[in-house]
Amino acid sequence: MERVISGIRPTGNLHLGNYFGAVKSFVKMQDEYDCMFFIADWHSLTTHPTPENIRNSVKTILSEYLACGIDPEKAPIYVQSDVKQVLELYLYLNMNAYLGELERVTSFKEKVRKQPDNVNAGLLTYPCLMAADILMHKADKVPVGKDQEQNMEMARLFARRFNRIYGVEYFKEPASFHFADKAVKVPGLDGTGKMGKSEGNCLYLCDDEKTVTKKIMRAVTDQGPTQLNQEKPEVIQNLFTLCELLSGKEAAEYYNDLYNRMEIRYGDMKKQMAADANALLAPIREKIIAYANDDALLERIMRQGAEKAAARAEKTIEEVREIIGFRKI
Ligand code: ADP
Ligand code: TRP
Repeated sequence: MERVISGIRPTGNLHLGNYFGAVKSFVKMQDEYDCMFFIADWHSLTTHPTPENIRNSVKTILSEYLACGIDPEKAPIYVQSDVKQVLELYLYLNMNAYLGELERVTSFKEKVRKQPDNVNAGLLTYPCLMAADILMHKADKVPVGKDQEQNMEMARLFARRFNRIYGVEYFKEPASFHFADKAVKVPGLDGTGKMGKSEGNCLYLCDDEKTVTKKIMRAVTDQGPTQLNQEKPEVIQNLFTLCELLSGKEAAEYYNDLYNRMEIRYGDMKKQMAADANALLAPIREKIIAYANDDALLERIMRQGAEKAAARAEKTIEEVREIIGFRKI
């Protein structure tokens, strides 16, 4: 069976972008592939969280994953920092990753622009750690959102380079797997292109019913179309994309016809979107709360996940050490 791995950084709560862009595809894949999922807490250190932050966010994200339907019996979930072998592979990959190519990664350049006071080496070598996560498990497929494509290209590059340097066919080039064969990009509620934690335009899976309704009703729109069959401005196109995700294709087409006839009332469309969002989120929210209150269960799930991941990782590291020329330990 093909192997699948994916990780998510524990930085705050899961939002609709994470759900449609990542977690939903994880849930589907656990029945079709040999899956493992992990919480990328090492990656989150680039933003210097406090110990309290880390403890809380790992627990939160784990509860949210489980509430979305990840079943640890089918797909082990582990915490990245529980599997130390990844660090060793990260070191080896770092030795063959070049400054120029790392500096050219768009997300790195963006961070340099957005947080010039914290351009740490971890940010620069982020793609190496991500490649280590993936190559460690010899993953065939990695479900990720569109924004991770460049990191995936780096992982493939590092796999090829390792094989070339040592004259082996050891690492597989992992393929990106986009849910429904295309990368979903969930727009933000502020009318901008991407829902994201740092953008402050998110609908969170744990938002209560009132908050969900309020946020959707306040989503940015315009004055409405002024011509028949008018091309939609970006803000409106984004609202329609969200509508299709929440309420389905038919509903989006219905409102699209109204838009084309200049009869649309954004308020009606949003009301439906809010109702559908609440129908989707209510059961998830309930489960999040139940898991978050069961520390013993969360601990057991993390331990079992780490054991399975470490067993695989250990095998890879032993083989890699031998390829590189290190003694067996
Ligand atoms: P954020 O941008 O809020 O910090 P993350 O970068 O932690 O979110 O996202 C984790 C996963 O969720 C990634 O696989 C990412 O591609 C996916 N994801 C996040 N936001 C979106 C979005 N708006 N649309 C599609 N996928 C998304
Ligand atoms: N970089 C990913 C993100 O920000 C998270 C991540 C870390 C990841 N390691 C990974 C995703 C390995 C897939 C595979 O979303």
